[in-house]
Amino acid sequence: MVFYDVAVIVGSIRKESTTRRLVNALAAIAPSSITLRIVEIKSLPFYSQDLESKPTQAEIDFRNAVASADAVLFATPEYNRSIPGVLKNAVDIGSRPYGHSIWNGKPAAVMSVSPGALAAFGANHHLRQSLVFLNMPTLAQPEAYIGNAAALVDETGKITNKETREFLLAFLTQFATWISNNTQKGPKTLAA
Ligand code: FNR
Repeated sequence: MVFYDVAVIVGSIRKESTTRRLVNALAAIAPSSITLRIVEIKSLPFYSQDLESKPTQAEIDFRNAVASADAVLFATPEYNRSIPGVLKNAVDIGSRPYGHSIWNGKPAAVMSVSPGALAAFGANHHLRQSLVFLNMPTLAQPEAYIGNAAALVDETGKITNKETREFLLAFLTQFATWISNNTQKGPKTLAA
């Protein structure tokens, strides 16, 4: 069996994050051609160019965890029509030192999540602006704007809405094809 190892960056660090609950629920519906693993950003320090030559253990672990992945899924809420600072900070940390970006060439996809009806469109597209610069081939269609998200995941961790489940399966399946078409590495093989 072959599969792609996808690092998931969640743009919220709060315990009861709706975005994280949705990401956790994705595991149950993801196609077998991808595995999803959250790479934590909570312990990262604020990026400073002064400290580039002395990375903390959290930065080293973060960089290694993303660098070893075949692709990256960004799942983010919206703060003030943009991405949360913690996510931008993680993007910046991964991008430096100059010439040693962990993002370079990795296939990506963006899922924006909001309790509101506008579904974090602003965050989704602000993030895409950085991904262009970081040279990450990013899935265009289907776009994943998940609105009215607060009630989408029940207490057992399952996605309640059938249409949302079907949409997210289609999104992840298309992402798997996108990774296969854009990756610079081959898929991993799991012994049967
Ligand atoms: C928000 N929220 C928000 N929602 C939105 O759809 N568009 C926005 O621009 C903003 N702006 C915003 C700014 C700040 C500082 C906060 C704290 C919140 C609401 C936000 O979508 C909501 O709190 C989500 O639940 C956050 O995602 P997590 O943490 O639940 O994953």
